[in-house]
Amino acid sequence: MRVEVNGSLFEEEPRPGQCLRTYLRERGWFGVKKGCDAGDCGACTVHVDGEPVHSCLYPAFRADGRAVTTVEGLASPEGELHPVQRQFLEAQGFQCGFCTAGFLMTTAALDEDQLTDLPRAFKGNLCRCTGYRAIEDAVRGVRHVEAPAAGESVGRNLPAPAGPRIVTGTAPFTFDLDVPGLLHMKLLRSPHAHARITAVDVSAALRVPGVHAVLTHHDAPARHFSTARHEHPTEDPDDTRVLDDTVRHIGQRVAAVVAESEAAAEEGCRRVEVTYEVLPAVLDPEEAMKPGAPVVHDKDATTARISRPRDNVVGEAHGEIGDVEAGFAEADEVYEGTYRTQRVQHASLETHGAVAWLDEDGRLTVRSSTQTPFLTRRALCALYDLPQDKVRVVAARVGGGFGGKQEMLVEDVVALAVLRLRRPVKLEYTRAEQFHGATTRHPFTIHVKIGARRDGTLTAVRLRVVSDTGAYGNHGPAVMFHSVGESMAVYRAPNKKVDAFSVYTHTVPAGAFRGYGLGQVMFAMESALDELARRLGLDPLAFKAMNVIGPGEPMVTADGEEEDLHIASYGLDQCLDIVRRARAQEPDPAAAPVPDGWLVGEGAALAMIATGPPGGHIADARISLLPDGGFDLAVGTAEFGNGTTTVHRQIAAGELATTVDRITVRQSDTDVVGHDTGAFASTGVVVAGKATLRASRALADLLLDLAAAQLRVPRAACRLAEEAVLHPAGRLPLKELYQAARAVGVPVCADGHFGGTPRSVAFNAQWFRVAVDPGTGEIRILRSVHAADAGQVMNPMQCRGQVEGGVAQALGATLFEDVRVDERGEVETAAFRRYRLPQYADVPRTEVHFMRTADAIGPLGAKSMSESPFNPVAPALANALRDATGVRFTRLPLTRDRVWLALREAGVTDGADTPGVTHRTRPA
Ligand code: FES
Repeated sequence: MRVEVNGSLFEEEPRPGQCLRTYLRERGWFGVKKGCDAGDCGACTVHVDGEPVHSCLYPAFRADGRAVTTVEGLASPEGELHPVQRQFLEAQGFQCGFCTAGFLMTTAALDEDQLTDLPRAFKGNLCRCTGYRAIEDAVRGVRHVEAPAAGESVGRNLPAPAGPRIVTGTAPFTFDLDVPGLLHMKLLRSPHAHARITAVDVSAALRVPGVHAVLTHHDAPARHFSTARHEHPTEDPDDTRVLDDTVRHIGQRVAAVVAESEAAAEEGCRRVEVTYEVLPAVLDPEEAMKPGAPVVHDKDATTARISRPRDNVVGEAHGEIGDVEAGFAEADEVYEGTYRTQRVQHASLETHGAVAWLDEDGRLTVRSSTQTPFLTRRALCALYDLPQDKVRVVAARVGGGFGGKQEMLVEDVVALAVLRLRRPVKLEYTRAEQFHGATTRHPFTIHVKIGARRDGTLTAVRLRVVSDTGAYGNHGPAVMFHSVGESMAVYRAPNKKVDAFSVYTHTVPAGAFRGYGLGQVMFAMESALDELARRLGLDPLAFKAMNVIGPGEPMVTADGEEEDLHIASYGLDQCLDIVRRARAQEPDPAAAPVPDGWLVGEGAALAMIATGPPGGHIADARISLLPDGGFDLAVGTAEFGNGTTTVHRQIAAGELATTVDRITVRQSDTDVVGHDTGAFASTGVVVAGKATLRASRALADLLLDLAAAQLRVPRAACRLAEEAVLHPAGRLPLKELYQAARAVGVPVCADGHFGGTPRSVAFNAQWFRVAVDPGTGEIRILRSVHAADAGQVMNPMQCRGQVEGGVAQALGATLFEDVRVDERGEVETAAFRRYRLPQYADVPRTEVHFMRTADAIGPLGAKSMSESPFNPVAPALANALRDATGVRFTRLPLTRDRVWLALREAGVTDGADTPGVTHRTRPA
C-alpha cells in the first residue's frame, strides 16, 4: 500500500482489518484521536483526498493510492495556520481540546452552503466540554481573545497557552507518545452481577502468541482500598481490590491480560476460563436496605468504614435542627413529593487509561488521564508498599474529567503489571468500558416535604435521600453528605431535618460528577419550592427570594452550622435580578414563532455551592525567575479544559508585572511541587490559584529585596515593571538581577501553599422559557439565561465557556442522558449511539451574566465556577415545563416519550382553544 499522509509517503501494509485511525496513530499522527471507535464522536476525523471521514470506520487499505490529511497537515508546509485553525484560536473554540482536531477537519471541509447549517454539518462531531457555542463562534469568525499586556492580566480574555498546540494536533494527551517495548493490557470483565470466582484457568490464555501475563486475584495485593481519591482517604470505604475473588457488578474486572498487541491481549481474555458460583444480586437501593437482601460487602464495619454492611448502607446522615413536625403543624400549606434522578455518564471524550514503565532508576512512572496525580501516587505507594520517591505520576493534557477522573480506575492494575513484568504497559479503556467499568453520577431518590405560612415564610424542610452508590462506595458517603449541604443551607427555615443513605447495589459504581450530589437534591428542592409557591398563590421566584440566605448569615444545614463555610461575597441578589429582568423582557419578535398548539412557560432555579471541599484541599506552587527574565511556574493541579493553566499564568503575571507569555507553567507532575490534592471540587482557581498567588507575591517581594540590596536604594523606591526593577536611578533588568543573585548563591524562587480553608460560596441562577408540544412531548428551549456569581472573573471568555459547557452538560442530563441498566444489572447503553449526548443541534445559546462581586477568601476575589452552573438547570427546566403544562415532572430525564405520556395522562392535549395562541400558565 502507498499512502501519502500530510505530504509524506508511507509504503507499509496495514494489518488485516486495521482501521485508518490506528494506522495513522502508529505512524505518529497523534492528532487523530480515539473517542469512541464507532463513528459516533468524530474525534478521529481526517481528510481522504479532501473528503472528511471518520478514520475509525475507514479501513486502512482503502487509503491505498490516496492522500490523507490529518490536523497536523492542515497548516501550510511553511507553518502558516489554516484559516479555521486561526479562527479556533481567536475564539478559543475548545476547552480540553480532545475533540478539536475533529471539529477542525470537519469545518475545513465545509462549503458555503454547509456553513449556513451548522447543526447538520456537525452531526458527526461531539464535544463534551464547550456546549458548542465557542465552536460556533470560531466557525463564524468571532474573535474573543485579547492581547496580553504587562501586569494587566486579571479579568482579561487571555488565550490558553496550549491553544497553538491544540489547533495543530500537537498537544500531547495521555497516549500521544511512543514508548519503546510497550505491552498492552486488556481486561476480562464479569458477566454476572454477583458471583464468587471458584476457579480460574489461565493456561490457554498464556498459550496465545504474544501474551506475557495473565493477572488474576491470586496476583493482586490482598489489601482493600477505595478508587475514590480524596485528601483524606478515610472519607471512603476500603471495599475494593485490584482484582477480587468476588464480583459485584457486571463489568467488574476479573483478569488482566498483558500482551505484545491489543489483539493478542483480547484473544487472551477470550481464552481465560473462569468458574463462577453465581450469587443472588440486588439492583435497587430500597430493596437492598430491606432485611434479608443480598449483602454486597460482608465486611467489618469499622475497619472497612462501612456504616452498616449487613444492610448495604455504606454511609448515612441524620440530622435535625428545630422541630420539623412542629414546623409543618404551623404551616398553612405543605407540599411533599418524591423525585428521582438517573445514572449519567461523564462521557469525557478521552477515556480512562494509563501507560506506565520503570525509569532508568527503577522508579515506577505512571502517565495517566487523571485529575489527581498526587493522590494516585499516594494510593499506589500504599498498595504496593513503595516509598514515595519510588513512584512518579504525571498527567499530560487530560481530555475531559468532570469528576470521573477523581478515581484510580486503571493505574493500580497497570502498576501491578509493570512491577511484575518490568516492561512498559498501557491500558486504554474502550468507550464501552467507560460505561461498564468506569463510574456514573449517583442516581438519587429524594422525598421532600416543605411547609410555609400564607405569607410565604418557610416553616420546615424535611428530606429523605437514598443514593445508589452501586457495587462500590467510592465517593458514596461524601456525595451524599454534600448533596444535603448547600442545597438546604441556601434557604432559611427554622426547622430542617435530613435522613440520607448511601446504599450498595450490584450495579456499576457511581462516583464523583460535576456538582457532587447537589444537582440531584436541588432538582427536588427547587421543584418542590416552586410547587409550594404555586399552591400558596405566590410567584415562585419571589417566594424563593424571601427565603434565601442573606449576606453574612451562617450556613445552617440539618446538621447545624458549617463552621469553615462563609459567605465571603454575596451575589445571589444580583443573580435573582438577572432572572427578573429576563422574565420581564418580551420574547424576541425576530425569533422563530412557536407552532400552533404548543404550550409556553418559564421557570427558574437557584443554587449555592461551596468554593471547595470540606476538610481541607492542599495546593503547593513554586515560581522561579529564569535567566532570560521570564518565570517558571510549577503547580500540581491538572489541566483538562478547566482553564486553570491560563488563570495561573494571569495571576502570576499580574503579581510580577509581566505578560502571561513570560510565564511557563509546569504542572500535574508529582516531581514538580510538594503536593496538590487535585483538580476537583472546582479548586483549580480558588485553592491552587491561591498557592500561585502566594508564591508570586513572595517572589515579587524577594526580587524587590534583592534589587534594593544590590542597588543600595530603599526597597520602597523599587517596583517591578517592564521585566525589570525600576528604581530612582533607572532600571535593573530581571536578567541582570538573576545573574547577581546567582553570583551570591541566592535562589530566585518562592513557594506558595494553601490549605483550602476557610471556604466561601458561589451562587448561580438559571432561567428558561420553553415551548412544549403536547402531541409529541418535544421540548423546545426558547431562551436560556444563566447568572453566575463567580466573584472576580479572572478570564471572562474562559469562565463563560465553563458556564456554557456546564449548562449544556446539565441539559443532556435533564432531557435525555440515561445510563440504563437491565434486569440483570447490565448497562444496556454502552455506546454513544445508545447513550445520547447533547449534539450541536441540541444546545441552545445560553446568555451568561456575571455578577459584580469580589470574594474575601478567593485569590484576587475569585470564586469557583466549574461545577456550579450544572446544578440549577434541571429544576429550572422542570419548573418551566410545569408553568407551560400544569404538570409537575418529578423524574429525570425529561424524555420526549415521558413528557408526552405524562401530559396525556393529565389530559393536556393541546395549547389553546384557538390555534396560534399559547398558554403561559395552566392551573394545577
Ligand atoms: Fe470538546 Fe473537550 S473541548 S471534548
